[in-house]
Amino acid sequence: MRVFLDNAATTPIAPEVVDAMSDVMKEHFGNPSSTHFHGRNAKAYIENSRRIVAKLLNCSPSEIIFMSGGTEADNMAIHASIHALGVERIITSAIEHHAVGYTVEALRDRGEIQLDYVQVSDKGNVNLEHLEELLLQNKKTLVTLMHANNEISTLLPLNETAELCKKYGAYFHSDTVQTIGHYLFDLQSLPIDFLTCAAHKFHGPKGVGFLYVNRKTKAEAQIYGGSQERGLRGGTENIYGVVGLAKAMELAYANLDEHRQHIQALKDYMISELKIMFPTVSFYGETEPSKSLYTILNVCLPLTDKSRMLLFTLDLKGVSVSGGSACSSGSNKPSHVLEGIGADVSLPNVRFSFSRYTKKEEIRFAMDQLSSIYQRNL
Ligand SMILES: Cc1ncc(COP(=O)(O)O)c(C=O)c1O
Repeated sequence: MRVFLDNAATTPIAPEVVDAMSDVMKEHFGNPSSTHFHGRNAKAYIENSRRIVAKLLNCSPSEIIFMSGGTEADNMAIHASIHALGVERIITSAIEHHAVGYTVEALRDRGEIQLDYVQVSDKGNVNLEHLEELLLQNKKTLVTLMHANNEISTLLPLNETAELCKKYGAYFHSDTVQTIGHYLFDLQSLPIDFLTCAAHKFHGPKGVGFLYVNRKTKAEAQIYGGSQERGLRGGTENIYGVVGLAKAMELAYANLDEHRQHIQALKDYMISELKIMFPTVSFYGETEPSKSLYTILNVCLPLTDKSRMLLFTLDLKGVSVSGGSACSSGSNKPSHVLEGIGADVSLPNVRFSFSRYTKKEEIRFAMDQLSSIYQRNL
């Protein structure tokens, strides 16, 4: 048996998405910028996909800019805030994805912005009182904080944070790469400037995503070239990718509650089995459902001579997972997220992450392999 419990890294593409993409690949090869029949036909696919996405998020199609995925969208939001909005200062946290963390550090090192870090708790919760204190400084500010942490699952209270930014006149970007397709968004009522999305996190294709830019917020091209995507992102569109993204999003939201219940039940099952197997087990990040992304469970396991190179051993036994502590992955650099929450990175850890395709037998299989590694019986 071979099981994939690394759905926070990427998800298997849905068969319906493959079908939708291959239809377009076979039949609709025109360049959407061409004005003839083939071009108009290809363009119609892009614009129809944009309408589908906008409807699902309750925003306007003109607020969706398709691009290559989460990294590009995060970069664009941050760079646009400086170049189009005149932001002089960025507030972020130490546990953001590198697509945000490395970008803001580079801008600080080049002297383009002042960079401030808001405190986070040992569970990865952003200290909103500290954020408010930081917001009192009178400088044009962008706040960039992720909706759900991709390593430890902790959720940011998005509405509350957005309202706080609004109160102090700061722009707000949230990296929603792990949550679009897993939670409902109502962008008519959420006061946010930028959101980012990558299709491969919800059974869509890799290499495609979008940036949502609130219509009240100005943006500027970061890639110069053609006038695609309203001049904000030049380059011939990835038609198949965009069609696949829209299809994947439709499927994700069509049965959201059902998927959520299924995945949360798997996570609860794993938590209870782990507690039986390892009475001293602990979990990084929040586990309470209202505060934790239901697709991720990050486990801190006991350190024994059996736990060295844990991820490698699990892989040999048929379980694909990832983790952030140096000793479990064989890397010599522990995760900045675990360091950022003050975790003991000398302990082995495993990030299990699930999708709507994950089966209970697969969780059972992974637990049995863990048990055999630690030589314990359940
Ligand atoms: C929270 C978060 N942000 C950004 C990214 C980058 O997305 P992409 O791989 O589409 O560039 C990822 C992907 O791992 C992620 O989990």
